[in-house]
Parts: sequence; C-alpha cells; structure tokens
Amino acid sequence: MAIHETEERFGKLRTTMKLNPGERVALCRCMKSADFPFCDGTHKQLECNTGPIIVEALTEPAEEA
Ligand code: FES
Repeated sequence: MAIHETEERFGKLRTTMKLNPGERVALCRCMKSADFPFCDGTHKQLECNTGPIIVEALTEPAEEA
C-alpha cells in the first residue's frame, strides 16, 4: 500500500508518496475527494471534466513510446 506524508515546505503543503513496484494509485485532481490525496470517485458528480491522475510504479524501466 502506498505510503504518503504531507508536510509544510516553504509555506506550502507538499505530499510525498512511496509506491511498491507494480503498485497503482489514482490521485485526486478535483480537490473534492474525502480521501485526499487519493481519488474516491467524487469527480464523477462534478460538472467539470477533471478526473484523477493514475500513477503506476513500474517493475522494469519504461520504454519510450
Ligand atoms: S475525486 Fe477528485 S479526481 Fe476523483
């Protein structure tokens, strides 16, 4: 499970997240999730087109597209 920590840095909040190899998380971009920084699906109820950021920790180096 992703480990995350939020800290104040230069007067701003910053979240650092550590993922295990192969782990995948959906991060909230709409700022409405009750489980922030993770997406809880609340964005589906909003009028805007904002959805989550999907982050995946690879098990091998990524190949360029
Ligand atoms: S709840 Fe915010 S992007 Fe999904």
